[in-house]
Amino acid sequence: MAQRIFVTGGAGFIGSHTVLALLRARYDVHVFDNFHNSSPRALRRVTELTGAPIGTTEGDVRSMRDLSAAVDAFRPDAAIHFAGLKAVGESEAEPLEYYTTNVQGTVNLLRAMDKQGSRRMVFSSSATVYGTPSYLPFDEAHPINPSNTYGRTKAMAETVIRDWCHANGDAGAMLLRYFNPVGADESGRIGEDPTGRPDNLMPFIAQVAVGRRQKLSVFGDDYDTRDGTGERDYIHVSDLARAHVAAVERVLERPGCDSCNVGTGQGVTVMEMIRAFERASNRRVPYKVVDRRAGDLGSYYASTERARDVLGWSPEMDLHEMCASTWNWQQQNPNGYRDG
Ligand code: NAD
Ligand code: UFG
Repeated sequence: MAQRIFVTGGAGFIGSHTVLALLRARYDVHVFDNFHNSSPRALRRVTELTGAPIGTTEGDVRSMRDLSAAVDAFRPDAAIHFAGLKAVGESEAEPLEYYTTNVQGTVNLLRAMDKQGSRRMVFSSSATVYGTPSYLPFDEAHPINPSNTYGRTKAMAETVIRDWCHANGDAGAMLLRYFNPVGADESGRIGEDPTGRPDNLMPFIAQVAVGRRQKLSVFGDDYDTRDGTGERDYIHVSDLARAHVAAVERVLERPGCDSCNVGTGQGVTVMEMIRAFERASNRRVPYKVVDRRAGDLGSYYASTERARDVLGWSPEMDLHEMCASTWNWQQQNPNGYRDG
């Protein structure tokens, strides 16, 4: 019988791609999402792509009642916990919302899983937990010292999960620290659909290329990088989805808590990303260099060894595929899921 995976936040950008990968790997999936930052249409499209039904509960991770009812009904073998708030700027303005959703939401999920006796989970963490680099590439032993509220909520949730694992000999968890997820499924049917003005580089570039926005602001060209613009480690969301399938297999096999970076190990600057997107889309991406964005770091990228050793996972998709798949999604869905 197929193993059952409970996926909070499964309608979101990374969640929907992971649900697709889980269904293709023949897992039985139940999504729990309040659709605060996503659309049920994403899940309908995943069903179209796979032919597999997806059980769904509209519920809030801040509500123990919602979570308990859904977990009790589904009786999962493991959970993947994507549900959360992720905007750094907003986290500074609304810290209590962030702590409640990201930290209390995690405690609630663990309690609900405990009650069911199901103690295996994969958690969406972030490279942002490392803070300012003491050295690069970031490896998993790098000190945890986040410099913003969002990052602190992720670091706290990691601590909660680690302590829960230590207290329960049969508990197993994998903390996945994502670098910069971009791209879309090759079908162009699911992708990243930010509401309002995108905070992140890739969706902003895509909206400029498709004509929804006039030009990109490049936040500073005086960093200590090849061309002075910010450097990040972009990871294709379909590769990231595969990393979750590997992490689920791992936590189902053995107890204990572990963490893995999920990146490519390659830094790409803002200017390199603009040029790559122009090549992939055959469109121009007008831009203007403006001041640095407050709180931004110049450069960071992942050490990928641990993910390879522990998960047996390596990224397969390159920068061109990240840009081409984003463009395919953006062109087919200029207004995201609002188009139907
Ligand atoms: P997303 O906003 O697309 O997905 C998050 C999902 O959680 C959405 O479907 C949203 O509706 C749901 N959600 C939010 N609050 C909820 C609540 N209270 N109850 C139930 N559901 C709720 O974001 P994403 O990019 O897919 O990110 C998924 C996870 O990965 C998040 O935890 C995020 O912090 C983490 N992460 C994302 C990035 C990134 O750059 N995208 C980087 C590192 C880590
Ligand atoms: N950038 C621009 N113009 C824009 C947007 C971004 O020049 O309009 C630059 C930034 O200065 C940075 C790079 O593009 O150099 C990437 O910026 P993003 O906002 O896309 O991503 P960040 O690395 O700042 O942060 C992202 C997520 C965080 C997460 C982090 C993990 O937004 O939530 O990755 O590495 F924690």
